[in-house]
Amino acid sequence: MTANAGKEVAIRLAPVTEANRALVLALQLSPDQIDFVASNADSLEEAEQDSDARPRVVMMEDRVVGFLMYEAPDDDDEARIYRFMIDRTYQGRGYGRAALRQALDEIRGLGHVRHVSICYAPENEGARHLYRSAGFVEQGLDEDGEMIADLVLRA
Ligand SMILES: CC(C)(COP(=O)(O)OP(=O)(O)OC[C@H]1O[C@@H](n2cnc3c(N)ncnc32)[C@H](O)[C@@H]1OP(=O)(O)O)[C@@H](O)C(=O)NCCC(=O)NCCS
Repeated sequence: MTANAGKEVAIRLAPVTEANRALVLALQLSPDQIDFVASNADSLEEAEQDSDARPRVVMMEDRVVGFLMYEAPDDDDEARIYRFMIDRTYQGRGYGRAALRQALDEIRGLGHVRHVSICYAPENEGARHLYRSAGFVEQGLDEDGEMIADLVLRA
């Protein structure tokens, strides 16, 4: 159980701005997690080239604690969360779960999305546990050996 299990955590998502960009780049994972997700530097660079990418800063009050990125093209009923990390210092406090909930609320609010997919390394037990408990159902491995999981959004 996380320290904040069962409690509402005051996490919100915010856009990446010139003011918070350096803080996103400074977020860190533990060495054993680095291979689980692209670096935030790569993700922000990618976001600048891809108009579908929606990068989001995870904020705990006025503090930057994580980063996620998703896409939800207008002509597709599927959204894809393809980057998600919480800084190592802030993990295990329920922030990841709260940020995922915020992301799903934001995606639901777009109105055109019916299901959300997410992918992770099959050995990433933390991600598997979190996504499964949020309702994602594993679909199998993709061609890169990543596990794909899918969530049908409730109206
Ligand atoms: C996955 C990640 C975002 C979770 O963030 P977090 O803030 O630590 O998550 P929470 O504190 O909200 O915990 C969510 C649940 O996952 C569980 N969990 C977290 N890390 C875990 C681990 N390494 N092993 C097993 N369970 C784990 C928690 O116990 C909690 O479950 P519970 O509420 O039933 O106790 C974070 O660990 C992370 O950034 N990992 C590295 C990057 C990564 O793997 N990203 C996902 C793939 S793209």
